[in-house]
Amino acid sequence: MKLWGGRFEKKTDGLVDDFHSSITFDQRLYRQDIAGSIAHATMLGEQGIIPKADADAIVAGLEGIRQDIAAGKVHFELDAEDIHMNVEKLLIERIGEAGKRLHTGRSRNDQVALDCRMYVRDAAKEAASLMGELCQTLLSIAKANVSTIMPGYTHLQRAQPITLGHHMMAYFQMFARDMQRMRETYAHADVMPLGSGALAGTTYPLDRERVAELLGFSAISQNSLDGVSDRDFVCDYLYAASVCMMHLSRFCEELILWNSHEFRFVEMDDAFSTGSSIMPQKKNPDVAELIRGKTGRVYGDLTGLLATMKSLPLAYNKDMQEDKEALFDARDTLVKSLVVFSAMLASCSFKPENMARGAAGGFTNATDAADYLVRKGMPFRDAHAVIGRLVLYCVKADKALLDLTLDELKSFSDLFESDIYDACSMHACVTLRDVPGGPAPERVLESIEAGEAFLKSFSI
Ligand code: ARG
Repeated sequence: MKLWGGRFEKKTDGLVDDFHSSITFDQRLYRQDIAGSIAHATMLGEQGIIPKADADAIVAGLEGIRQDIAAGKVHFELDAEDIHMNVEKLLIERIGEAGKRLHTGRSRNDQVALDCRMYVRDAAKEAASLMGELCQTLLSIAKANVSTIMPGYTHLQRAQPITLGHHMMAYFQMFARDMQRMRETYAHADVMPLGSGALAGTTYPLDRERVAELLGFSAISQNSLDGVSDRDFVCDYLYAASVCMMHLSRFCEELILWNSHEFRFVEMDDAFSTGSSIMPQKKNPDVAELIRGKTGRVYGDLTGLLATMKSLPLAYNKDMQEDKEALFDARDTLVKSLVVFSAMLASCSFKPENMARGAAGGFTNATDAADYLVRKGMPFRDAHAVIGRLVLYCVKADKALLDLTLDELKSFSDLFESDIYDACSMHACVTLRDVPGGPAPERVLESIEAGEAFLKSFSI
């Protein structure tokens, strides 16, 4: 018989059991569920709401169940619907009457909210720590490459020279923000909902603060309706995961391009590449492509849950059971992607000569040539026009700016002097960009130092 079977005259149709049961996936919450029940029972005993001896028996029984589940010794029943009722049913089977007192002053509605909050706290912490490891890898690549010149792009057209170190530190900023988003997610999940009951609180003198303390929550929820119907914190995790996947996907896209024969900025390690069943020469960046692909899947988890939640009346509705598969899928995908991406990135070998060659072509020093004329007194807009004409001349002559003789240059502006050749070298283009946040090696070193300090002081 179902734990809620008293009011029913018929057995649940097998189709319904199969359709609405969540035990196949929410068994992942068993640790959180049992920890929550232990805290609840402890508080019930302390408050004298149930006999102390019963509370002790419940806690001991739950600990045994936790061990048995961890050891794979427990068979969950579809019939018992979800992890909450499976655990309660097992408890009653094991310890008898005392077990029937566990659910006093509690509903599955506040119970599942609690479990999900604990799960999201763990998942946010885990994600931030993996992001931190990726950030460390980025710092070490950046450190080794503060002077490795490469072309920077806009519109995927060569734009201005930068360094590989600067480029890596751009990704560092993104993943550092992702870590902060996970910290925010943790804070939003860190609110204890037990005591909300089914929707309208409870008649028992629960000590909600005590439960929060036992479970390490920093606050308790302030409204019982909201306590059971809020899934914002799940959306927060899914959003933070989606943004991180977006960053990984952009990075993957760049690595795929850089790894192509057309760029050859990087060579991916054999261990992180795959071959073709027909074309013997192929070495494909499948891992990067798959992370790019899985990004769409995590977006799907986010938009799916947002759509599920959008018209739900207060308070709990069974629709909300759909939150879990989205959450678990996003968590699994994010974790796997971060782990494999970090390893793949660490194994990449960059090709400084090819990057330098790429930077030297495509007139990436054209802005610097204009800036040169500005330093000699010409207004920027005029300088832009002069260099524009110069570039057109070079395109037609199939030459780079600095291939021209001083006489040729002077025919465009008599402000050009022999110092133009140094002023517009790739090295000068990068070192002169000495603004805070710019690619000058000193500035990149500064940002690496700030990044190290960020990682050192980061905590959830
Ligand atoms: N398995 C349910 C869920 O995940 C637990 C809450 C069920 N509550 C209810 N009143 N049916 O949302």
